[in-house]
This record gives sequence, C-alpha cells and structure tokens, in this order.
Amino acid sequence: MNYQTEISKLLDVALLAAQAGGNVLQSYWGRQLNIRQKGRAGDLITEVDQKAEKEILTVIDRHFPDHSILAEESGILGTSDSEYLWVIDPLDGTTNYAHGYPQASVSIGLLVSGIPKVGVVYNPMHNELWSAAQGLGATLNHIPIKVSTTDNLADSLLVTGFAYDRREVEDNNYAEFCYLTHLTQGVRRGGSASLDLCHVAGGRLDGYWERGLKPWDLLAGVVILQEAGGQISAYNDTQFDLYSGRILATNGHIHSALSKALLNTPHSSKFSFLEY
Ligand code: IPD
Ligand code: CA
Ligand code: CA
Repeated sequence: MNYQTEISKLLDVALLAAQAGGNVLQSYWGRQLNIRQKGRAGDLITEVDQKAEKEILTVIDRHFPDHSILAEESGILGTSDSEYLWVIDPLDGTTNYAHGYPQASVSIGLLVSGIPKVGVVYNPMHNELWSAAQGLGATLNHIPIKVSTTDNLADSLLVTGFAYDRREVEDNNYAEFCYLTHLTQGVRRGGSASLDLCHVAGGRLDGYWERGLKPWDLLAGVVILQEAGGQISAYNDTQFDLYSGRILATNGHIHSALSKALLNTPHSSKFSFLEY
C-alpha cells in the first residue's frame, strides 16, 4: 500500500471513531448526568467519558485489531510491539460538558513509530469536525484551514488552561495568564485543550500554551495545528515532547515572542485558597 492510500485509510478510521464517540456526547447532551470526581477537586468523570471511549475503541479494534491504544479511561491496550499507537481522549472538556457549556470534544490521534500522523477532534455540540493527516493538510468540516497571520503579541488573542493540580503547585500558570493578558488583546480559557489547538489551527486564535497536560489532550490537535501551518515547541522553543505535559503552540509568527514572554513572566503573586 502506498503512503497516500495508507494514511487516508487511517484517517478514515479516525473519523469513524470520532463520529462514534461524538454520537455518545450528543445523545447525553442536556441530560442529567451521573458525575463523579476522579481524583483532585474538579477532575470529573461522567458515564459519557466511559461510554464514548467504549464506542471509539470498538471502531478502532474492528479495523485494526493489532494496533496499540492509549486511552484516558482504559490506559494502555494491545501489544507493545505495534508501531501504531492510537491516543484517545473520549471527552476533552469534561468540566464544560458536565456544566452544559458546549466546548468539549472527542480527540483521536495516531502515532506511527512515535511520529504524529493523524488527528481528529470533533465537537458535536457545535457540529465542528477538525481533522488532519501528515502531508494531507488540515480541515474543518472537510474545508481546508490555515493559521492566522498576526505577527505580534500586542495584536494577538491567546488561549491557555489550568491543570487539576493548580491549587497544589506554585507553577500553576496563574502568573503567565496575568502577564500575557497584560501584553495581548486577551487570553481565553477554553477548557478543552484539543479544541484550543484546533482554534489556533483555524486562525480564530493566534497562540496557546499550557502545562500539566497528557498525551491524549495534545496529540490530535498537534497534528491538526502542524498541518494548518502552525508551530509547536516546548516553552523555551526547543523540541516539543508529547510526554512532557507542556506545549507552546502558535501560528508561527508570534512563536518566539510568546516563548520569550513565558520565560520572562514575573512570578510575584501567590493566591491563598479561602472558602467564600
Ligand atoms: C482537560 C482539558 C482542559 C485542560 C486540562 C485537561 P479533560 O481535559 O483539556 O482544557 O486545561 O488540563 O485535563 O479532563 O476535560 O479531559
Ligand atoms: Ca483531556
Ligand atoms: Ca477526558
């Protein structure tokens, strides 16, 4: 099978799996949910996370029973010697979803021999399907997309997020959020890392950074952003590491400026947690 045929087939299966997961998100949308706390305060899990993951895994297993899978709710599945690793977040933006805020997605990425190859992010509440495969470009609802042309921080609109350990660590991104809010036209907090990356890919936002993330929050969106012409790295502009938990992702034009601003953020304020 040539590259084009193989990558298209992998992308097609990722799209089918995202649709299957998205159907679950859609069918439970607006209904009373059974919500539990997974670990830290605010780290929620619903029956939707688990049901969506089950549907996604069924689709991938039906087409590629030999491939390995890393899924948020199930962990590692399959043989460790496969060169194919599907990386899945069945519901990215659980907090939003549980509150009825329609910014949540199914996120499905694929690594082949460790290289990001395919990404699909689907927000069924907004009917937005973002997808990409290496060399084939990125699309939103099958229409090609590209990053914005904003070339300085003062004109930029950014997005970030805060990990569930934010009350326990000093490096919780609060200082960076304030500093970048000061330097730009604004910093949004989307609540779904996958969609944050897609919104940069589609030119709605100019840059994104976050810490404390997992591979399933990032992989699909990384492929989509790269194929849309964006740039990803570590905060200090060295090579991105999917397992490091940190990402700096931009339209490319503001990359070095945003990297410098993150590294030069003044860390003076400390919040104490009071009950009101
Ligand atoms: C979370 C979202 C959020 C990010 C958190 C993630 P979840 O994923 O991507 O935007 O700030 O760090 O854990 O828990 O909704 O799958
Ligand atoms: Ca997630
Ligand atoms: Ca999740």
